[in-house]
Amino acid sequence: GIPDFVKIVEVGPRDGLQNEKSIVPTDVKVELIKLLVSSGLSVVEATSFVSPKWVPQLADAKDVLEGIQDVEGVSFPVLTPNLKGFEAAVAAGAKEVAVFPAASESFSKANLNSGIEDNLARCRDIASASRSYSIPVRGYISCVVGCPFEGHVAPAKVAYVAKALYEMGCSEISLGDTIGVGTPGNVSSVCCHVCFFSYIGFDCSGAVCTVVPMLEAVLDVVPVDKLAVHFHDTYGQALSNTIISLQMGISVVDSSVSGLGGCPYAKGATGNVATEDVVYMLDGIGVKTNVDLGKLMQAGDFICKHLGRASNSRAATALSKV
Ligand code: HMG
Ligand code: MG
Repeated sequence: GIPDFVKIVEVGPRDGLQNEKSIVPTDVKVELIKLLVSSGLSVVEATSFVSPKWVPQLADAKDVLEGIQDVEGVSFPVLTPNLKGFEAAVAAGAKEVAVFPAASESFSKANLNSGIEDNLARCRDIASASRSYSIPVRGYISCVVGCPFEGHVAPAKVAYVAKALYEMGCSEISLGDTIGVGTPGNVSSVCCHVCFFSYIGFDCSGAVCTVVPMLEAVLDVVPVDKLAVHFHDTYGQALSNTIISLQMGISVVDSSVSGLGGCPYAKGATGNVATEDVVYMLDGIGVKTNVDLGKLMQAGDFICKHLGRASNSRAATALSKV
């Protein structure tokens, strides 16, 4: 059955803002994070300690952490791709970090300039360094159903990376459908032939981008209470995939206020599932989140006004017209 309580990991200030063309001023990021916290969210991914040449949008990582240092009772994980990032994050006061290997070799090279194994070695370095600071390390896996360069990604590859992250001691492992191609079905025998991969001429040899076989493969090697799901909504499948994951026992969902986001190294990727839409759905089916939808919408309004764009949340758009 579906869990009674779902922990939402808000990733808008990181996954959202890393992909905005305009660079958002630090004080706006800090205000956004504070508004998100006041809606009741208990985890807000704040920023990334990555190369400013790769992601200039988050070059102010240290200043963002300084701006929220007085906010208590909330976790603010930050992305760290290597020891250099980890050390900078710790020096800036980070109390939780996240590593982010991929399940596909070519995406790993595009996103991190190194292959899967090299990356896992870096993650291990971070995991062992973090133990001496008692800092929890979250592990993300990108491209868990499809890769923009390789097409369908086999569930066994995802399970392999998930097991590695689990064995190195990650506190939580978040399964990322980076390009949003996954559908909520079980395995079927033929490719749908209408997805992005078919469109660009990929031959997936009949493999299908469905979420269930991937989750089953990961659940064979990692306990369910260590897992989170991270759906981008590029193909409008994120809420359906979320509900399927909850039915399989997962109770941690990543989402982004107003559906901000994407990934600079996954062309055409749109934002994460909107937090407002997730909360609306969970409120509707009686699953607790401790998040106040009205206050969350205020945070969404604030950042959308600043960015001069409309919200990508259907629930927030509809409710603001009521
Ligand atoms: P590289 O160029 O191979 O790094 O990048 P390098 O070790 O060769 O160093 C090159 C330069 O970068 C040096 O500076 C280093 O000091 C500097 P220089 O001497 O040229 O002045 N450098 C750093 N600076 C700041 N912070 C650091 C750092 N490391 C090196 N941590 C690197 C390798 C990993 C750094 C780079 O590829 C990178 O920053 N990648 C991050 C890309 C990224 O943030 N992508 C988006 C997040 S992932 C995502 O969105 C997916 C997710 O949401 C899940 C999903 O949706 O599926 C998590
Ligand atoms: Mg993402």
